[in-house]
Amino acid sequence: MTSKDIRRQFLSFFEDKKHKIVPSAPMVLKDDPTLLFTNAGMVQFKEYFLGNTIAKNKRVVDTQKCLRVSGKHNDLEEVGKDTYHHTMFEMLGNWSFGDYFKEEAIKWSWELLTEVFKIDTDSLYVSVFEGSDDADKLGLDQEAYDLWKAIVPEDRIIMGNKKDNFWEMGDQGPCGPCSEIHVDLRSKEEKAKVSGASLVNADHPLVVEIWNLVFMQYNRKADGALETLPAKHVDTGMGFERLCMALQGVKSNYDTDVFKPIIREIEAITNCKYGKTEKTDIAIRVVADHIRAVSFSIADGQLPSNTGAGYVIRRILRRAIRYGFTFLSAKGPFMYRLVNILTDTMGDAFVELKEQKQLIENVIKEEEHSFLNTLEQGLVLLDQVIASAKSKEIDGRKAFELYDTYGFPIDLTALILSEKGYSLDEAGFEKAMQEQKNRSKSASEISKDDWVVLSGDSEQEFVGYDVLEANVKLVKYRKVTSKKAGEQFQLVFNLTPFYAEGGGQVGDKGYLEVPNGDVIYIIDTKRENNEIIHFTKNLPKSLNETFRVVVDKKQRNRTEANHTATHLLHQALREVLGKHVEQKGSAVHSKYLRFDFSHFSKLTVDELHEVENFVNARIEGQLPFVENRSVPMQKALEEGAMALFGEKYGDTVRTVRFGQSMELCGGTHVKNTGDIWHFKIKSEGAVAAGIRRIEAITSDAVKDFFEENNKTLLEIKEVLNNAQDPVKSVSSLQEENAKLKKEVENLLKEKAKNLKGDLQNELQEVNGVQFLAKKIDLDAAGIKDLSFEMGQNQDNLFLLFGTEQNGKALLSCYISKELVASKDLNAGTIVRELGKFIQGGGGGQPFFATAGGKNPSGIVEALEKAKGYIS
Ligand code: SER
Repeated sequence: MTSKDIRRQFLSFFEDKKHKIVPSAPMVLKDDPTLLFTNAGMVQFKEYFLGNTIAKNKRVVDTQKCLRVSGKHNDLEEVGKDTYHHTMFEMLGNWSFGDYFKEEAIKWSWELLTEVFKIDTDSLYVSVFEGSDDADKLGLDQEAYDLWKAIVPEDRIIMGNKKDNFWEMGDQGPCGPCSEIHVDLRSKEEKAKVSGASLVNADHPLVVEIWNLVFMQYNRKADGALETLPAKHVDTGMGFERLCMALQGVKSNYDTDVFKPIIREIEAITNCKYGKTEKTDIAIRVVADHIRAVSFSIADGQLPSNTGAGYVIRRILRRAIRYGFTFLSAKGPFMYRLVNILTDTMGDAFVELKEQKQLIENVIKEEEHSFLNTLEQGLVLLDQVIASAKSKEIDGRKAFELYDTYGFPIDLTALILSEKGYSLDEAGFEKAMQEQKNRSKSASEISKDDWVVLSGDSEQEFVGYDVLEANVKLVKYRKVTSKKAGEQFQLVFNLTPFYAEGGGQVGDKGYLEVPNGDVIYIIDTKRENNEIIHFTKNLPKSLNETFRVVVDKKQRNRTEANHTATHLLHQALREVLGKHVEQKGSAVHSKYLRFDFSHFSKLTVDELHEVENFVNARIEGQLPFVENRSVPMQKALEEGAMALFGEKYGDTVRTVRFGQSMELCGGTHVKNTGDIWHFKIKSEGAVAAGIRRIEAITSDAVKDFFEENNKTLLEIKEVLNNAQDPVKSVSSLQEENAKLKKEVENLLKEKAKNLKGDLQNELQEVNGVQFLAKKIDLDAAGIKDLSFEMGQNQDNLFLLFGTEQNGKALLSCYISKELVASKDLNAGTIVRELGKFIQGGGGGQPFFATAGGKNPSGIVEALEKAKGYIS
């Protein structure tokens, strides 16, 4: 069976059992403050489990793109070393939201594995939660045990501890006991020697967990207590790549048709055969795995960067480049060349790869280039560290500095050191690393209290498309404490006019008015899953009142002008540059807007002009705002609405139209493009390979910008004595300046010539050397010219000049070539030694060298010491 068949059969098995097939949610999360990436199939369904949202379909089946590289589930360091962990993997799942529970989940999983996929029942083991005697005091999952006992022999049921058989998504949230299904892929002989049961959960590469059936029945609260969920649910997750390994009769995930084509391509590019040595095999697996994680993230709109999710992606890509560089002898960028084959193998199931192939390649190639440069710089720095080392063991802190400041990988440092006969003080490195982790951990630590629920009314309505004020009731609140923001409160109301940050648009600010007249500021609004959270510094004294909440109208209006302008800009770029332009990110603030898009070259001045004019023409055209708050997704797309990759859309969507610009959008907008007043681009530049960024302003900000520019112009005119034509005046000033510069240069040359004559008379003969050490008033270039000119007229010359320029000291030493040879003198050594008098250093060649320093008062002493070198 090919992997494509396996994926399809899984989905249709559950479709036959009345499950609705739903698409994978994006792998990169946008509106979830608790997670950067989808790390399990259940992430997109969290709200159903918590009871905050009612599921429309009670049974669902899907394959979810997951990434486990940060937070509670982090497999990054395992990947490549073994044959069955991945950064990005597909998780096949069937789901019940308050519908069927353990009985069906268990029965169907067995039916699928043994009857449809025909896995030999003798190869399978199942586990059941044994209970825990810690604070949770949970008993054995007897129900699951009895259900399994009815289908499998008892010796195949294994009792599992809390670590393996109680699934929790994070420190807080839905959780419950689980049953894992493990498959034993060893040969008959090996099975006869060692029982499979003893190898379950023992990190054996051929006895692996393939499916996890989680029975969600609790919610873990902030104080650690468990509360029973309002309804019981099923969350199952099957590792697609492991299932393929089991069904395709191979011994490693990397030998399945999911990875094989990629590995063949790596072999072709690097000339390293898979299966030759342990080291190169690990490297090949790392590269094969990481290209998937990175490509899928870029397709989801997450580019490598220096912060947050982007930083994680950059680290994964760099890990792969490093392995390629160190173990596969990759000489230049190579990862980007794998995108082609990846798209061939996975592009049918995940069309985003196909549609964005070119962009993914460009971004990866550019990242590779810049990281390879970093590696080169790092190698130079490492050489310096080695050159100045006092012993054969290199200080761990120095290695940490290389790692931290220059991104130079520690394993590469260790490798190079060992090749050169040095060792690394690993403990010192670890210590420095830990210290840094502690620093950043305490800076980002947030503690959240449990929600205090005041009313069971969990349906929350956003009324902010229509009104900016409303009377509301508090549904729940909690206290959140962090080092950065101090103590804050998060409030959820039954309805709200406050827009929560999302789709690039910032969250509303405003205030809450208590009936007694007290006012509490709402400093931000964010979305957490499906809830709109208002951030305040205080809580109202009495909580069960009706409050008036009011959005800051000015900020909202300015933000709306920028949001609508963003849509017009998107349209303008596609018209002016071409349909390859796609939105890659946006930030809509009250003061400015930022728009990232795919395009391969810098915009010309003419193009920028054309884009500006296009947008301004639509502003002048006073196009009305036309919205449809509930259109079936398919219909919206057919009507030509622009959808974004990596965004999660529901079955019905909201469309926003201004003239020919139509987008799927949840944000707020002006009622008429005329309200934007004017649009002005302030900058255009590159963010990554193939991604450009435009920053622009609208409405009041444009007025401020024009006024500011006008003020500057008036000031310039004033400085120019009220010149009528400041451009002409500045040009003639520049011409005059150039002329004067030339004249000064000539005068200085004249001066040097005269000086030369005087100095020649001052030469003193010492031991056959024509010697002079003197402080003079010339700049570095002047002194150099003077020294060489004097050298042309005079043999056996030794000159040491000192000069003071702009508070700094300069020493300059000239020695005739015949003296360098006959008296073994070296100007470089001399200035380095004398440099200490002026608190500086320098160097150069044996016949001419200079030293700069910060202590001009030391010049005299340095000059006095000069004679010592020849007498
Ligand atoms: N949530 C469970 C897991 O990730 C099952 O889907 O293993």
